[in-house]
Amino acid sequence: MPDSQQIPSNDVIDTLLNRVSVRKYSGEPVSEAMVETILKTAFRAPTSSNIQSYSVVVVRDAEKRKALAAACGGQRHVAEAPVFLAFCADLTRIEDALVRNGHSIDSNNLETGLVSAIDAALVGMSAYLVADSLGIKGVMIGGARNKPVEVARILGLPQRVFCVFGMCLGWPAEAPAQKPRMDYDGLVHFEEYGKSRTGADAKRIVDDYDVALAKHYRGQGRQTTDASWSDDMDKKFHPWLRDDLRERLKELGFDFR
Ligand SMILES: Cc1cc2nc3c(=O)[nH]c(=O)nc-3n(C[C@H](O)[C@H](O)[C@H](O)COP(=O)(O)O)c2cc1C
Repeated sequence: MPDSQQIPSNDVIDTLLNRVSVRKYSGEPVSEAMVETILKTAFRAPTSSNIQSYSVVVVRDAEKRKALAAACGGQRHVAEAPVFLAFCADLTRIEDALVRNGHSIDSNNLETGLVSAIDAALVGMSAYLVADSLGIKGVMIGGARNKPVEVARILGLPQRVFCVFGMCLGWPAEAPAQKPRMDYDGLVHFEEYGKSRTGADAKRIVDDYDVALAKHYRGQGRQTTDASWSDDMDKKFHPWLRDDLRERLKELGFDFR
């Protein structure tokens, strides 16, 4: 990565370069006007073929956040954040359009599911950046896919809607150190995969990152192994994470076939 003097500066670049997940919030509420600004701005995100196949559920109710926290794997920050936004893939409006034309969305396919989840993610990331630029910090919650049917029940989601991920938002009560990222030269290829600027091989990128992340965690007083990231990934994905997701999403009206 070029050194920071070479990166031009503006508000968007600064917001992204300084961003970090925040999981502790002051008690100060986030106003409805702020949430509306965040979401209205985020809805300007690009959307595949203009399908706009997302919906957002804004949750402030403490009991509901507590139930969501449990469904998301016991994540305390979900119960503690003043606002939880559920970014949902939503095929209901497309279903209406198809039915109006004498067609059905029953047995929808992988592309439908993928494209609606991508749409929801683009809106979610846009919302996150707008919030951050206003000083409202937070964290995304993929734990919403731990028990997607339970999350759908809590949020009153109809068939053809599932929560792709949630987002805790609030005024920050912590300023965590930024987690390092993998080296630019391991992630960027020129003209074809494997041709990086420095010729650095993938194994070295991961080895270097294991060391950098272990150093970061130790600086935070957190336990880690020397192969920090590699061991984290192995723990996360072996055995396979959310291996029943396809069946659960089918219950919610997404076939992913
Ligand atoms: C789609 C998505 C889902 C995430 N899910 C969770 C989650 O359930 N709980 C949590 O505490 N953090 C969650 N995170 C935050 C990541 O752990 C965090 O972004 C990552 O560790 C890098 O740290 P940073 O955001 O501070 O740079 C999620 C992030 C993304 C993008």
